[in-house]
Amino acid sequence: MTSIDEAIAAIRNLALERVVVYTGAGVSAESGIPTFRDADGLWRTFRAEDLATPEAFARDPALVWEWYEWRRKLIREAKPNAAHDAIARLHDALVITQNIDGLHARAGSEHVTELHGNIFRVCCTREGTTSTRRDAFPELPPRCSCGALLRPDVVWFGERIPMETIERSVHAIERTSLLLVIGTSGIVYPASSLVHFCHGLSIEINPDMTPFRSSCDLVVAEKAGTAIPPIVDAILEQLR
Ligand code: OAD
Repeated sequence: MTSIDEAIAAIRNLALERVVVYTGAGVSAESGIPTFRDADGLWRTFRAEDLATPEAFARDPALVWEWYEWRRKLIREAKPNAAHDAIARLHDALVITQNIDGLHARAGSEHVTELHGNIFRVCCTREGTTSTRRDAFPELPPRCSCGALLRPDVVWFGERIPMETIERSVHAIERTSLLLVIGTSGIVYPASSLVHFCHGLSIEINPDMTPFRSSCDLVVAEKAGTAIPPIVDAILEQLR
């Protein structure tokens, strides 16, 4: 285990050129958005098979939408936390996130790759067109003007992340001098494998045990909101 000060000392030893930040639900936990697999996580209360698969949507689109509307409200009312804000100060960094909450962009991060889509985007199930819809829908399930059902423009279990998105992420990770892996259990592909493409220094920030304990160079067992602001200060000093 590494202390925040030790992680900062390691960053000060780097010839730092590029930074990639890889995040999961843990980075938004301090904004009040539940994670998936912690003690109070969503998958402890809900079954992914009932709510986050194409089959579930085909079976009962209204049920799936009720769950997404509940999450959309929670996320609309949430604010970026100290970790999102600090990450946004890394203007040139690429942020690769599994989160669909859009909080990195709301905090001001300019380069964000959303691997699993965005909860405020919808997609017409007939035409495949996408649009941003932040407000609550008057009726569920919502429909496109063409009459077909709209679905959340997110990646569900059994669906693929576009290959081009994965390739772009791998390419950035291969070239980065520093990779921060924040608040992800590393269980869902490709989170678990992306870290292996890093030739630079990799630092995990997560208060709990994950598979990254063995694959990252350093592990800071702290909450993102505590560890990320001082780590970002050190990165910005080193980039100067
Ligand atoms: P998980 O819920 O699997 O993991 C969240 C991680 O965040 C855990 O390892 C926690 O220890 C950590 N954590 C909690 N609070 C934290 C804090 N304050 N600071 C730092 N870390 C903290 O969430 P993900 O790994 O993001 O996919 O899950 C990956 C994917 O699985 C999600 O995108 C979602 C889910 O099923 C789909 O819905 C397709």
